[in-house]
Amino acid sequence: MSNTANLELEGKTYSLPVVSGSENEKAIAIGSLRDTTGYITLDDGYGNTGSCSSKITFIDGEKGILRYRGIPIEELSEKSSFIETAYLLIYGELPDHAQLRAFSDLLTQNANLHEDMKHHFEGFPPNAHPMAILSAMINASSCFYPGLMGRANKERFDIHAARLLSQVRTIAAFSYRKSRGLPTMYPKPVYKYTANFLHMMFSEPYQDYQLKPEVVKALDLIFLLHADHEQNCSTATVRMVASSQANLFACAAAGVCALWGPLHGGANQAVIEMLQDIHESGDDGSRFIQAAKDKNSGQKLMGFGHRVYKNYDPRAKIIKVACDNLLNTLHVSDPLLDIAKHLEEAALRDDYFVSRKLYPNVDFYSGIIMRALGIPVEMFTVIFAIGRMPGWIANFKEILDDPKSRIYRPRQVYQGPTLRPYVSIDQRP
Ligand code: ACO
Repeated sequence: MSNTANLELEGKTYSLPVVSGSENEKAIAIGSLRDTTGYITLDDGYGNTGSCSSKITFIDGEKGILRYRGIPIEELSEKSSFIETAYLLIYGELPDHAQLRAFSDLLTQNANLHEDMKHHFEGFPPNAHPMAILSAMINASSCFYPGLMGRANKERFDIHAARLLSQVRTIAAFSYRKSRGLPTMYPKPVYKYTANFLHMMFSEPYQDYQLKPEVVKALDLIFLLHADHEQNCSTATVRMVASSQANLFACAAAGVCALWGPLHGGANQAVIEMLQDIHESGDDGSRFIQAAKDKNSGQKLMGFGHRVYKNYDPRAKIIKVACDNLLNTLHVSDPLLDIAKHLEEAALRDDYFVSRKLYPNVDFYSGIIMRALGIPVEMFTVIFAIGRMPGWIANFKEILDDPKSRIYRPRQVYQGPTLRPYVSIDQRP
């Protein structure tokens, strides 16, 4: 196989290097294209653009494969925990006992927010969306740790990463409590990561939340399944901001904003709202599927389709089974689960979805688990953000550690007016 690609332009042939990934994906390196030819490439929405080389996560969208640092998501979801997986993503290897203990201790020591940050929560209106609060408060945290990090502060990476990973969960729980007019609950050092989050969400000053192992496990799994997903919209945003050498907290706050939209992480909330609408309208989903196929309706089957997966999203497979198991164990019957299953079956029989290779994605069933755990719908995307934090931190670290890293700065093909004179206001038509 040749390791160059030839490009013919205006009667000249140019040789471009072909780059192979460790899983044999191929890319044509076009870094010198503009210098040598005067041309750039155009790829609206980046469907064919590799924005970086990365060693963190591998996806084969045609086969429905997802691996973190080479380890299949199926194995991690069965054998690992969110925090062990976070370590794997950030540092590249599974930790030994001592490393895991040290990492876990660092998270525990950094779980509390600076006390003065509590005043900032007071400024948000009661109905503020928790994603707005999350992004604002992550960014605000950097004010409390001056000199947070630029390249010069590389040696402080471990502590800042642990602080962010630990505090995102505290901020999320505080914003929920604030939105309900409830007193904030401080983290308890005796609890592990996910149990502590549930405690901060649902304990009361006079009564601790009763932690059920199956509930903790289900939420831990949700976090783990969201932990990274290569160059999706929010991670690419984090890398974009990181490339300007902004600090880790600023990058993560930008990631939260990118995640918020309904075409990305906001889809988990949109799925439940869609299922609820179908339930309340008494439809079995058929009318909704018809509307989703009609481009003029403005509706989509939320939780279906993916830029990369042209097969069943492996995370959705795992979540579907976990969802069934959890609801059985908790003896919960949720009509929305029946509607979701019906929609899935109907869509997977329908030529519109089959021919476009539209399958359920991670968001299709995750909301039903979260409902069963008592997590309110407006917090769903926040849960996604907590889960995605290790991936964002790992991608940030890749940029921090790369001595050749340079600012991300895409180009464009300008389609606006060509040169024209300024016309003074009284002479304009
Ligand atoms: N319902 C109906 N039609 C759909 C859907 C859907 N959910 N998804 C894609 N299509 C159609 C498109 O209209 C398009 O049809 P066409 O070829 O006739 O024009 C075709 O399928 C290809 O879709 P694109 O929009 O080109 O796919 P793209 O890669 O740009 O978008 C996305 C992917 C945003 C995920 C899209 O499938 C979607 O909007 N899905 C619903 C929202 C969702 O679930 N988002 C979560 C994604 S996973 C995540 O971020 C965690």
